[in-house]
Amino acid sequence: MLDALWERRALLVSGKGGVGKTTVAAALARAAVASGKRVLLAEVELASEPEDGPSPLAAMVGTRASGPSVTEVSPGLSFVRLSALEGQRLFLQEVLPLRLMADAAMRTRALRRFLEAAPALREMGVLFQMLHFIRRTRPDGSPLYPLCILDLPATGHALAIASLPDTLLSVMPGGPVGRAVREGLALLREPRLTGALLVTLPEPLPVSETLELSTAIQRHRIPIAAGVLNRMPENPFSPDGRAAVERLLGEHGPHLGQRALGRLDRARAAEARLVGNLPAPLLTVPELPAVGRELVDRLATHLTRPASPGAPSHAGAGVRP
Ligand SMILES: Nc1ncnc2c1ncn2[C@@H]1O[C@H](COP(=O)(O)OP(=O)(O)OP(=O)(O)O)[C@@H](O)[C@H]1O
Ligand SMILES: [Mg+2]
Repeated sequence: MLDALWERRALLVSGKGGVGKTTVAAALARAAVASGKRVLLAEVELASEPEDGPSPLAAMVGTRASGPSVTEVSPGLSFVRLSALEGQRLFLQEVLPLRLMADAAMRTRALRRFLEAAPALREMGVLFQMLHFIRRTRPDGSPLYPLCILDLPATGHALAIASLPDTLLSVMPGGPVGRAVREGLALLREPRLTGALLVTLPEPLPVSETLELSTAIQRHRIPIAAGVLNRMPENPFSPDGRAAVERLLGEHGPHLGQRALGRLDRARAAEARLVGNLPAPLLTVPELPAVGRELVDRLATHLTRPASPGAPSHAGAGVRP
């Protein structure tokens, strides 16, 4: 299944706060590079952040890069921070006939205020900057970044991006802006090229929220590439072992271990619900006792190792159809 993900040009990593989007985006980027892809790992600069402030995503792949220019982190892996403003400049550059005009337009205070005012236009800046990187080619015409993995800051953001082209087209249906938006839309809605990755946790509420997000994203016709069930607890029990533990608990009354068993059961139920309700395959990512860059590297190794057929379903990264 990972190979199918790597075939795409853009993966939009989305999900609620704190579910592991940044960790998963970084680990997937590392895994894609390990399987021979050239990857641009991107994050969105929030308006509230200083332009050169520390980036959690950059730290997770071991670079201190910041700012809007692309940095090569390691062979095959590049990092960039997308900024709405830079994207809007590129957008104008494309739709206005001359670069000079675009620069002048961006310097116009009234236009800047207009661009900053509407959230849809801010999202457009991010989207357009990503499209710009996707389109870049090497001298031989092949894509400079065959795969772009975008770590989105929060669910609202993914939905804003998803709904954005319709919003924009309703305001400016024709002319060069409409054309540019339509071109972006075509890429965004083409399942062979783009896909959202919906990251979630193995608990009831996050799963419900993820299924809602899935419905909303599909309504905007953004393809869903996969669900990602992150922090799946390891299941140390064989069926017999589990039965023996249940028997012991039954005989000796409540025990702290019951909480761990409850968590395992909820995790399994969460997995079944996602498999049954998501319109895409589910990638299961284990919970590992590490943080930061070490966690990312270990998850990437886990994702790229060949699947062992006899392994218990909860012990590691696995794919459910
Ligand atoms: N598979 C995992 N195993 C263990 N810990 C994990 C795993 N995935 C994420 N974490 C931990 O969960 C926390 C949140 O992860 P992360 O920052 O990637 O989430 P996020 O969705 O990007 O958050 P935000 O919405 O704030 O951007 C971090 O402390 C991270 O180390
Ligand atoms: Mg994050």
